[in-house]
Order: sequence, then structure tokens, then C-alpha cells
Amino acid sequence: MNSRHDLRNLGRTNMMVTPIGLGCLQFSKQKNIAGKVWPFLENDLINKIVSHSIEGGINWFDTAEMYGKGESERALSIALNQAGKKPGDVLIATKWFPVLRFASNITKTIGQRIKALSPYPIDLYQIHQPWSLSSEKNVMKAMAELSDRKLIKYIGVSNYSAQTMKNAWETLDKKGIPLASNQVLYNLLNRKIESNGVMDMAKKLEISIIAYSPLAQGLVTGKFHDNPELLKDIGFRKYSSQFKRKGLEKSLPVVNLVKELAQKYNVTPSQIALNWLINYNGNMVVAIPGATKEIHARENTGAMSFRLSDEDMDRLDKASTIFK
Ligand SMILES: NC(=O)c1ccc[n+]([C@@H]2O[C@H](COP(=O)([O-])OP(=O)(O)OC[C@H]3O[C@@H](n4cnc5c(N)ncnc54)[C@H](OP(=O)(O)O)[C@@H]3O)[C@@H](O)[C@H]2O)c1
Repeated sequence: MNSRHDLRNLGRTNMMVTPIGLGCLQFSKQKNIAGKVWPFLENDLINKIVSHSIEGGINWFDTAEMYGKGESERALSIALNQAGKKPGDVLIATKWFPVLRFASNITKTIGQRIKALSPYPIDLYQIHQPWSLSSEKNVMKAMAELSDRKLIKYIGVSNYSAQTMKNAWETLDKKGIPLASNQVLYNLLNRKIESNGVMDMAKKLEISIIAYSPLAQGLVTGKFHDNPELLKDIGFRKYSSQFKRKGLEKSLPVVNLVKELAQKYNVTPSQIALNWLINYNGNMVVAIPGATKEIHARENTGAMSFRLSDEDMDRLDKASTIFK
């Protein structure tokens, strides 16, 4: 697999990803609860978002069973096919949804995931959240079985605390399998993983962080601060305190600095926010911005084409330290 951008190992695995991937929750077609989060995108638009992402140099995609009960996985597969990609040309991460399910469901449903993504194989299979009806140990044993049977290549988790991540790591480590990644909420307006132990533990165990909502659902770009009219149509985001008046006031200093740096580097605010995320912690953080427009995909992949100076990264660090 060729990429014009630097590739990073996911954890101690041989899975080599570009620092930016594409988040595919937006492809859920309004099916099920998670699917209602973003508007309905037609296949034609999805195909364009995926092809712009590939042209922009990314080599991997993050989806999940929960994203429209397979709708996102199926739309992604169609778009990759449309873009002329063969199995193995790009990497796919998907997720098993654990709530109200036992670990045995992992092996029971893997065929459905493979079918939804067919013909593209599952490179990274993640546990979406730590809340299944089975112990972490049994969940990881089921994942190890899928890896032994070569139904998936690598194993990751998502929304795991420092301790649950360590427990998962230990179970896999006994079998000689590395835990590749923990996919968690991380952006300039939410840096909690730097204070709750997740980042430190990930560094210690050499587990990559996959930053989800890396643009704070668009907020960090400043578009809502600049144009409050846009707040009238933000869907589920209206329930978040970050999108209310006080939240907007709190994020304004960070947004202003992001915009100032965008001018300095002649890039977009989204590119500044993503560039900080993928470089501030060395190579251990990769990010999966979602897109509802073609321009988003073009801009977000452009975040890999320059590098903020250490001094400017420190300025962003200081400005956003209240969000730790
Ligand atoms: N593991 C988990 O529990 C979990 C949870 C959430 C998300 N995720 C994953 O992470 C991915 C990304 O997270 P997310 O979608 O929550 O948040 P995000 O990537 O921070 O924000 C995406 C939204 O920001 C806006 N946007 C994107 N690029 C932009 C740009 N260049 N300029 C201006 N606005 C831009 C778009 O919203 P508008 O439509 O308003 O323009 C887009 O839908 C998801 O697709 C999913 O794969 C995982």
C-alpha cells in the first residue's frame, strides 16, 4: 500500500495508517439511534467524500456496526468499489456493539460485519464501548479467537478507561497479541484523556489513541462562533453544553487562536486543529474527522500536508489547557 504521507504503526501492530483517517458515522443514513446523529447523505455524496479522502492521501476508514446497523459499512464498501479500490488497497476499522450482549455475540455476528464490508477485509476490529454483559477478559478472548481464525487482522477498543484498557491489554498480551488502539473523544476543546490517565497508560503500553470527534463536531473551526445562524440547524448537537451560549464563550479564546494560526499558515482552522492533534503527542495520536460535505474531506486530509511549529503547538496547548 502506497501513501504520499507518513504512515504510523497502530500500537505495536504492523497496521500502518495515515495520521488522518475518515470517520464514517456520517454514512449511517439516519438508521437506528446512532444513525440519527447526522443527516441522511445520498450514496452519490458519500462516494465523493470517500474519493476526495483517498485523493487527499488517507489510507483508512473508521466505521461500526452501530452506524445505521451496517448502513455505514455498506455505503463505505460501495464507495471504495466506486473509487476503484481493491481489497487490501485501503484499511478498514469497524466495531462490535457490546450493550446488552455477551462476548459470544462477537463470534456470532462477525459474518454480518464481513458481509457488510465485503469484499474489503476488517483490518481493525474494535469493541465500541466497555459495557457488555461479559467480562473484559471474555470479550478479549472472543476477539483473539477472531484473530486466530484470521477473520480480523488487529484488535482495538473504544471508550475504554485507563484501567479497562490495561485489563484488555493484559488478556491479549498473554496470548502474544498487541492491543492496537483505544478510540476516544479527543480534541482541542476536550482534552480529558490527558488528565484521566488514558493518555499516560496508552503511552506506557504503546497503544495508539484514535481521536474521535477531533473537530469537536465542527465547533473548533469557529464556524458557529462566526455565524450563530448556523446554530439553528445543528441537530443532536443542540443538547451539548458546548454549543450553548456559555460553552461558545468558553471555547472562543481557543477558536480565536486556531483562526489566527490558520491565517499565519495559510490553511483552514480545521487543518490547524487536526494538525495539533496528530503532532502534539508525537506519533501516538491519529484522528478520524467525519465529513458531510466534499469540501470537509478535502480540507481535513490537507491537515497532513504541513506541520505547526513547536512554539505554536505550545500556544494551542496553553490556550486549551482548561479543557483537560
Ligand atoms: N467510538 C465512538 O464512540 C465514536 C463516537 C463519535 C464518533 N466516532 C467516530 O469519529 C468520527 C468523527 O467524529 P464526529 O463526527 O463525532 O465529529 P468531528 O469529526 O469532530 O466533526 C464532524 C463534523 O464537523 C463538521 N466538519 C467536518 N469537517 C469540517 C471542516 N473542514 N470545516 C468545518 N466543519 C467541518 C461537519 O459537520 P456539519 O455537518 O455541521 O458541517 C462534520 O459532520 C465519526 O465519523 C466516527 O467514525 C466514534
